[in-house]
Amino acid sequence: MSASSSLRTARAVRVVAHRGASHEHPEHTMAAYRQAVEDGADALECDVRLTADRQLVCVHDRRVERTSDGRGVVSGMTYEELRALDFGAWRGAEHAGARVLLFEDLLKEALAAPRPVGLAVETKHPSRAGGRLEAELVRMLREYGLADGAGGRVEVMSFSRTALTRVHRLAPGLPTVFLIERTLRPVRPPYATHAGPGIDLVRRDPGLVARLKAKGLAVRVWTVDEAEDVELCVRLGVDTIITNRPRDVRKLLLDM
Ligand code: G3P
Ligand code: CA
Repeated sequence: MSASSSLRTARAVRVVAHRGASHEHPEHTMAAYRQAVEDGADALECDVRLTADRQLVCVHDRRVERTSDGRGVVSGMTYEELRALDFGAWRGAEHAGARVLLFEDLLKEALAAPRPVGLAVETKHPSRAGGRLEAELVRMLREYGLADGAGGRVEVMSFSRTALTRVHRLAPGLPTVFLIERTLRPVRPPYATHAGPGIDLVRRDPGLVARLKAKGLAVRVWTVDEAEDVELCVRLGVDTIITNRPRDVRKLLLDM
């Protein structure tokens, strides 16, 4: 690739903030997402779960122990119970007091950003929620006029074909990203319009990106925090990098 085409390619790569600017802030907190917007992220990645009282909250793990001072399973707790926990102190006293984030509040934050900022929403463990999670997510996106993907601004990701198929049936215009972790699994439209391989897989099998692109799928790679991996992604023509360090990755891309 020539220097000028490499530059064009690097500048065109979208940067998605994984759980916000989670390298610096506790993941999935409003502070992490505000930092990501400030850092120039094109979109915000978040994991969503359904609480016992059917609120969509941004939490990665099934249980709250790792990221809060509480105990329990997210789906077995009400939003008020989750609100009582501290989701910041585990990353240091300066982050103490951070509260669980409602997906709706993140959505409003993205819509109110001073420039267009997208959302990459990952559904967690859909089989346990029997379709309720996807239904609530699509309902909310529809309420905000985003269920058609808003011109590529919003997309839904999952490791689960079942979840993406449900989302696709409810909102056929919404882009869907099939996440792939260790081994290549077939990715077929319509349940997936994009593919999301992990960086470990891309390192092991760089030809994977070209094969996915040849099928007409856009490629989102996660979680890319190291300079050499950013360079690899650019070389391979990856269109989106999902990272915990949106500011650093943006700078690397601009400096290429
Ligand atoms: O962006 C996809 C990535 O977030 C999937 O892995 O475990 O961080 O949700 P995980
Ligand atoms: Ca995720």
